[in-house]
Amino acid sequence: MKSLQDQIQEVIAACDAALISTHTQADLEKTKADFIGRSGRMVDLMAQLKTLSLEEKQQFGPLLNGLKQQLQEKFTAKEAEFAKKTLEREQQKLQSFDVTAYKPGKIQGSLHIYTQLIAELEDIFMSMGFEVVDGPELETDYYNFQALNIPETHPARDMHDTFWVSSPGMLLRTHTSNVQAHVMQTHTLPLAVFAPGRCYRNEATDATHDFMFTQGECVVIDKNISMGNLLATAKTFLQRLFGKTDLEIRVRPGYFPFVEPGVEIDASCPFCKNGCSFCKKTGWIELLGSGLIHPNVLRANGINPDEYRGFAFGFGIERLAMIKYGINDIRLFRSGKIRFLNQF
Ligand code: FA5
Repeated sequence: MKSLQDQIQEVIAACDAALISTHTQADLEKTKADFIGRSGRMVDLMAQLKTLSLEEKQQFGPLLNGLKQQLQEKFTAKEAEFAKKTLEREQQKLQSFDVTAYKPGKIQGSLHIYTQLIAELEDIFMSMGFEVVDGPELETDYYNFQALNIPETHPARDMHDTFWVSSPGMLLRTHTSNVQAHVMQTHTLPLAVFAPGRCYRNEATDATHDFMFTQGECVVIDKNISMGNLLATAKTFLQRLFGKTDLEIRVRPGYFPFVEPGVEIDASCPFCKNGCSFCKKTGWIELLGSGLIHPNVLRANGINPDEYRGFAFGFGIERLAMIKYGINDIRLFRSGKIRFLNQF
């Protein structure tokens, strides 16, 4: 029988040979089992210790322990080699990732309907000589209400269920009319601005109301502004938006504390002549809240109402989109539903 010393050398050589043909983690587990597993070669060698004399045990015991440690180190080194290769492969994959690669069958993203419609509205108003401006969504009581002729005790505050924030006097704007006082204070006259943006009202949601929605606001201030300017601007805007040169408008009295007189502007239904489901068989669709800017508002913002006059109108952008694209529930806009969104 071979000496234990020879067998130890043989096991080392066999393990080295086995590791050369070990290429996967699964191979490595098997090689480990063959050498240091429960019925591996190491166990056979250990079993032989029992048959040795005390002196031989003292000589071979440490040798076998050293062998076991040596084998374990070889497996650990192999594992580290595999881990390094895996990391290199992953890094290689990342380096060769082509962000412009065309993937057939993948769903292509597109601009949200809000973004598309706001861009269209901005184009229309810019072509009519308006400047596009942004107003703050986190607003003060002053700009959202007081500067618009709505003092603290004014009952019109009940028309806007307001989200107050924890800082005193601060709120989430309830309408884009908050830009009126800002532009009066920052712009030189005459001015014509269009301000689209998000608004918030603490309301229960239903098919036509959301707690967050978008509005657009137009403000024009110049000498000799009249109701005629308001109506002509509103009509041109709506004709361009719906692509109908024969679209008509009509006005009804409306109450907003920051305009006098205040009017609601309806458009003739862009889809029918004699009544359809969109116009609820009336032939008219309610679209704009508007009016001539109240002298109190001009005065509060440093403009002499005897010299300058202005008009303003505002509208819900979701409402326009619902009419333009035949959408029956406002909650779909923010639902994130791909089947809804990828129609636009
Ligand atoms: C206003 O907000 C006025 N600031 C409009 C205005 C501007 C009048 C300039 C005069 C001069 P109103 O509260 O009616 O008015 O809102 C205007 C539009 O915003 C509504 O017609 C509707 O389309 C939209 N809107 C209002 N509340 C909601 C809501 N909770 N969800 C979705 N859209 C809403």
